[in-house]
Amino acid sequence: MTQEENLSQEMPVPRHIVLVGLMGAGKSCIGRRLAARLKRPFLDADHEIEKAAGCSIPEIFERHGEEAFRDGERRVIKRLLSAKEPHIIATGGGAYMDPATREAIARSAISVWLRADLEVLLRRTARRDNRPLLKQGDPRKILSDLIEKRHPFYGLADLTVESQDGPPEVTVERVLQALRDKGCLVEEEHEGEQLGRS
Ligand code: S3P
Repeated sequence: MTQEENLSQEMPVPRHIVLVGLMGAGKSCIGRRLAARLKRPFLDADHEIEKAAGCSIPEIFERHGEEAFRDGERRVIKRLLSAKEPHIIATGGGAYMDPATREAIARSAISVWLRADLEVLLRRTARRDNRPLLKQGDPRKILSDLIEKRHPFYGLADLTVESQDGPPEVTVERVLQALRDKGCLVEEEHEGEQLGRS
């Protein structure tokens, strides 16, 4: 008998898990950790957009404008969602506002809204200088307007999980529990060579 026999592990149902929410909600940080826990590949949509464009998001906004960024974002997320193998995908804060993207996510993924309050978002976004939307005025006013405008849309996601300050593992556990409660995690028995099946 090998050590690998008779192991059981919780596996997500075979759909992508897509994290949505405002800038600073922790989508990339939680997504990466969640992917490690679920042994799934992780994709960061913003990073994939930058790769496809060959420049950074601030540069895309500066050279081509927000509309061009949104077009690219829609196309890249559609491509990521078309992957056969289920991934954990972190999206940029504006992605879920796009009706076609929302629809594509609903078709092929479980969506999780990471919800954080204004103070948390402000503190986290202040740590980095890479978000063009927050440079267009007072970040507190911009973020509170975005909360008002976008929260009703994020509320359409399959699951909502609070993302507070503190160790990211706490939020990862909350996401796992929310997936469990929704029947999106199943206990799988692994025996020898069957390890790693999806
Ligand atoms: C945006 C959020 C950013 C990035 C771009 C626009 C938005 O991603 O896609 O700056 O519209 O909220 P994060 O949410 O990962 O910061």
